[in-house]
Amino acid sequence: MGPIEELHIQFEEDLGKATSLDQLKTVRDRWLSREQGIVTAGMKKLRELPKEERPSFGQAMNQLRELVESRLEATRAVFQAAEESAGRKRTDVTRPSFPYPMGAHHPIRQLQQEIEEIFVNLGFTVLDIPEAETDYYNFEALNMPRNHPARDAQDTFYFDDNLLLRTHCSPVQVHGMECMQPPIRVVHTGRVYRRDSFDATHSPMFNQIDLLVVDEGITMGDLKGMLAAFLTRMFHRDIRMRLRPGFFPFVEPGAEVDIGCIFCQGIGCRICKQSGWIEILGAGMVHPKVLRMSGVDDSRYTGFAWGMGIDRVAILKYGVDDIRLFFENDLRFLNQF
Ligand code: DAH
Repeated sequence: MGPIEELHIQFEEDLGKATSLDQLKTVRDRWLSREQGIVTAGMKKLRELPKEERPSFGQAMNQLRELVESRLEATRAVFQAAEESAGRKRTDVTRPSFPYPMGAHHPIRQLQQEIEEIFVNLGFTVLDIPEAETDYYNFEALNMPRNHPARDAQDTFYFDDNLLLRTHCSPVQVHGMECMQPPIRVVHTGRVYRRDSFDATHSPMFNQIDLLVVDEGITMGDLKGMLAAFLTRMFHRDIRMRLRPGFFPFVEPGAEVDIGCIFCQGIGCRICKQSGWIEILGAGMVHPKVLRMSGVDDSRYTGFAWGMGIDRVAILKYGVDDIRLFFENDLRFLNQF
């Protein structure tokens, strides 16, 4: 075997040991660098050879150099592709890590869905209505004309003279009567807004549920029966309740509904302020004027409506003592639901 074949075998061995682009560069330097490269050194030997051997030796060395160069280049391409695809896996910081964290609905949303489901099972239609509402739907059609004193109780965020952030979910009554003929059973849950400052029991944005039933012969007895059915399903047990007279312009008679305190079973505690009762909703028989304004014949039909704060129910159901926890998006809190 001539010296050039030996070099060739040596080169292949050397190349076979390289496993990365960095190592490949070392191999290239060892063989091809201008100063000390093995192939370069071989070329230098040319001068020491007798004249007649030079041409064939020079030709063979040139072949060897071409071979080394092409083998290095081919191997470099393979390594480069491998490192690029490995690099892609390693550095794609935009991909979620494994195991993927599972999201969940916010506790208020969960409760909204639970409540909606109860009413769907009771034959209600869930209506989707706007949060930015006109004066007409939020006040006027609910028997609160301009300058009506009841408007003061609901300090309102206005966009302009006519458009506002709804202060309650009761506009569902008007929308319900506009888009359906009796018998009507509609419900809506969603956000409402009032100019209140934050504290443990108040927030300028909170959640309500409002519903409306209109048919022939509907009475206060139906209202009470529906309430009892709802409360049992909501709290998964029999709940004591009482209706006290209450004023809301869109119902007559109107009632405020208390439930027996679910923390002390009516004995008296901090939550119910020692009374044994907790107020949870407003209700009443739809005012004939409200029926009429939305085109329902009040000589033939009657109806009832009620509205309730969902966050308040969440506080009771989950034993949370500060409403702000629901709106701060602290995962340590939210993860518990
Ligand atoms: N909309 C009232 C409020 O936010 C609550 C309410 C009271 C709703 C009586 C009703 C009702 O449907 O009949 O304070």
